This record gives sequence, C-alpha cells and structure tokens, in this order.
Amino acid sequence: MLIAGNWKMYKGPAETAEFCVELKRALADLEGIEIAVCPPYTSLAVAVQVLAGTDIAVAAQNVHWEAEGAFTGEVSAQMLRELGVYGAIVGHSERRQYFGETDETVAKRAKAAIDAGLSVIACVGETDEERERGETEDVLRRQASVLEAEDNLVVAYEPVWAIGTGKTATPEIAQDAHAFVKSLLDVPVLYGGSVKPENAAELLALPDVDGALVGGASLDVESFASICLSATRS
Ligand code: PGA
Repeated sequence: MLIAGNWKMYKGPAETAEFCVELKRALADLEGIEIAVCPPYTSLAVAVQVLAGTDIAVAAQNVHWEAEGAFTGEVSAQMLRELGVYGAIVGHSERRQYFGETDETVAKRAKAAIDAGLSVIACVGETDEERERGETEDVLRRQASVLEAEDNLVVAYEPVWAIGTGKTATPEIAQDAHAFVKSLLDVPVLYGGSVKPENAAELLALPDVDGALVGGASLDVESFASICLSATRS
C-alpha cells in the first residue's frame, strides 16, 4: 500500500520544511505502508533533508528522459537521484492537458527514470467526455500499452473528471478500472481523484486498489496523515 501526496505547484522551500517537520511527527508511529510526498522541484532538496532517516520518501512530479542536454526547463533522473529523490510521477493529466505530454513522451520519461534507478508513478485516466462516449477502456489500454511492467513501476488511475473536482469515482467505477488496468499491466495501481479523509477508507478497501495519489488533501498535514492512517487499516 502506497499513499503519495502530489503537491502540484504548491509549497516553496520554507513551507515545505515546516510541513515535513509536522508530517514526520504526525506519522511517527505509522507502520506497514509506504508514504511519499511529491513537492515542486525547488522544494525537493529541503524535503529530502528534513525527511532523512524517516520512512517517508520524496518524489518529483516529472522527469526528463535524457541524462543531460539542451532541454530548457527540464530535469533529469540523474539530477533527482543526486538530490536523494526516490522517484517521480510521470504523465499526470495536467501535464497531458496543459503541457503537450503524450503517451510517447510519458513512456520515454517512465523508462529512462526506471533505468536510472528511480521509482515511477505513471498516471492514466479518462476524461468526462471519453467516459460518456464509452471509451474508458480504450483510453486506459492506449495509455497503459506504452508502459512496461517493472518492479519500480506503479500506475495511478486518475479519472480526469475526478481530479480537483470533489467528484470521486464510485467504488464500483474505481474497482472496474483498476481491475482492467491490472489485466493489462501487472503492477500496483493507486487511485487518484478527490481522495479525502472521508472517502479514503472505502476506496483503499477495494481489492484492486493498492494505494492513493492524493492532490488537494495532501497539502494539509492533518488530512494527509488521516488518509495514511486509513491505509494502515485496509
Ligand atoms: P486531487 O488531485 O486529489 O486534488 O483531486 C489528485 C491528483 O491530481 O493527483
């Protein structure tokens, strides 16, 4: 079971340091689950520093496929490893929607990161229109087909219509989608999309849900800790 907090473009280094000190305290007695926080690039170093010696891992929100080169604005897996970062998210729907990320670039990012020794959380998920048109399985199949099942790969099923909207997938929708993704790729599958302390237990108890990728609710120590606690009970 993995609970990862995707901070998106929130929390600079000072706020990150403060948050990690509190999170360390809040999760001190928690055992049996993996926990990761995914701050923005500029806050990774301080998160690694404050969380050193704890079981809380630090991951980035993206990673480039080359080790170095003329790729303005990008950061490589090697650079992240040098910081002590353990993994990276790739293919988040916001990257696909606003920054031209495609299945091909997601695949390249995932492969390079895993080859360089990082763990990867690769995001998949259908939009509202795709679900309405009955295309959910086609979309998931297309997005998953470019990924290879590896030890360090985890997939996050994040229906786009549930991200930041307060609309959570029903347990039935989540379970069906997770089982389908697992039939394509034999890797753990996290659920993401408006996971909150109030709905975490029900989602995490589903047979094919192996954890959660939490956005908004991961920005508050108390609510993130409460979701982590639900995970230890399921
Ligand atoms: P949310 O975001 O929990 O705020 O819906 C999830 C995500 O984008 O990873």
